[in-house]
Amino acid sequence: MAKTRVAILFGGQSSEHEISCISAGGVLAAIDRERFDPILIGITRSGKWVLVDQSTSLAIRDGKMPEVDESLPAINADIHGFQVDGVPLQIDVVFPLLHGPYGEDGTVQGLCEMAGIRYVGSGVLASAVAMDKSFAKPIFEAVGLKVASGIVLKKGEWTAGQIENLSYPLFVKPARSGSSRGTTKVKSFADLSAAIEFGFQFDTKVLIEEAIVGREIECGVLEISGRANASPVGQIQFLGNYEFYDFEAKYLDDATTVIFPDDLPQGVEAEIQQAAIAAFKALGCECLARVDFFYSNNGEIIINELNTMPGFTPTSMYPKLWNRAGINYSELITCLIDAALIRSAHVTR
Ligand SMILES: Nc1ncnc2c1ncn2[C@@H]1O[C@H](COP(=O)(O)OP(=O)(O)O)[C@@H](O)[C@H]1O
Ligand SMILES: [Mg+2]
Repeated sequence: MAKTRVAILFGGQSSEHEISCISAGGVLAAIDRERFDPILIGITRSGKWVLVDQSTSLAIRDGKMPEVDESLPAINADIHGFQVDGVPLQIDVVFPLLHGPYGEDGTVQGLCEMAGIRYVGSGVLASAVAMDKSFAKPIFEAVGLKVASGIVLKKGEWTAGQIENLSYPLFVKPARSGSSRGTTKVKSFADLSAAIEFGFQFDTKVLIEEAIVGREIECGVLEISGRANASPVGQIQFLGNYEFYDFEAKYLDDATTVIFPDDLPQGVEAEIQQAAIAAFKALGCECLARVDFFYSNNGEIIINELNTMPGFTPTSMYPKLWNRAGINYSELITCLIDAALIRSAHVTR
């Protein structure tokens, strides 16, 4: 049987470019070569699509993060599919290992839809809605999930009156942030406007939310044969002294680790798993998502956000959660590609 040609799409224009490269290196090393024939397609920081040789190192080397080289041969990607010098790259399925804007937000998904190419992960709508917290939060609330109290601010609309019902500390974050970029914890009114200005450097909309005091718990959702399954839950354990799960805490070695909490009260893990599936369905997600919660010190389960393409290096949270459930990294990759292959390549059929 002919192998399935899988385009691993990575890099991209968002602040998560490097982590996407590391995810791609992980997938390339672990993908089942008996069934799949992978092709690496990189997106440079400037947005150019290029063909990447499989011998390219996509790991951290001498403390330097990998990135997609701007000088590689260009790929043309349009509604006719992907071509190099006019020759089509025969691709059966795209694995968009992209995080953040122009990747996780429905844009690349739209391109694949137009080209009639199957892809791993959520479709246009779910990707776009999950990316924008100001839209995802009200949908989560509508299906009975608890979210942090807060408001949404557009540039130029800020008045102090809007936050008089919120109590400090507050979190200020761009609506479409990723990697905690542009996010600040604000302890008093004096620091608020600087935090808002900072948030606006990353987006035209920011959220101001009450800070939840508790643990950060994450749950993976994976569709197998069309059915959504929830993984065991994992907790972010801070090893250093961090105010919150900021950029450094996320990406510096030894800043955090994943633990599988064994001290949650009876029933809480199952409740989080149900909430994760409810959130997945509420946004209309497909294939996979990582759903992030707070388990507050008052025993409340509060959803923070849903990521339609979570970090996917072999040591990222999402693969670790499934490993805990008995699905190893290679098997997980196969599951995701299979989930994409059973889907129609067309929007309405
Ligand atoms: N309302 C909140 N209460 C407590 N911590 C928060 C809140 N909002 C964000 N944070 C902290 O900021 C981090 C990043 O915020 P998040 O909304 O997850 O954005 P991103 O998409 O950048 O990951 C969270 O992991 C958490 O540590
Ligand atoms: Mg987050």
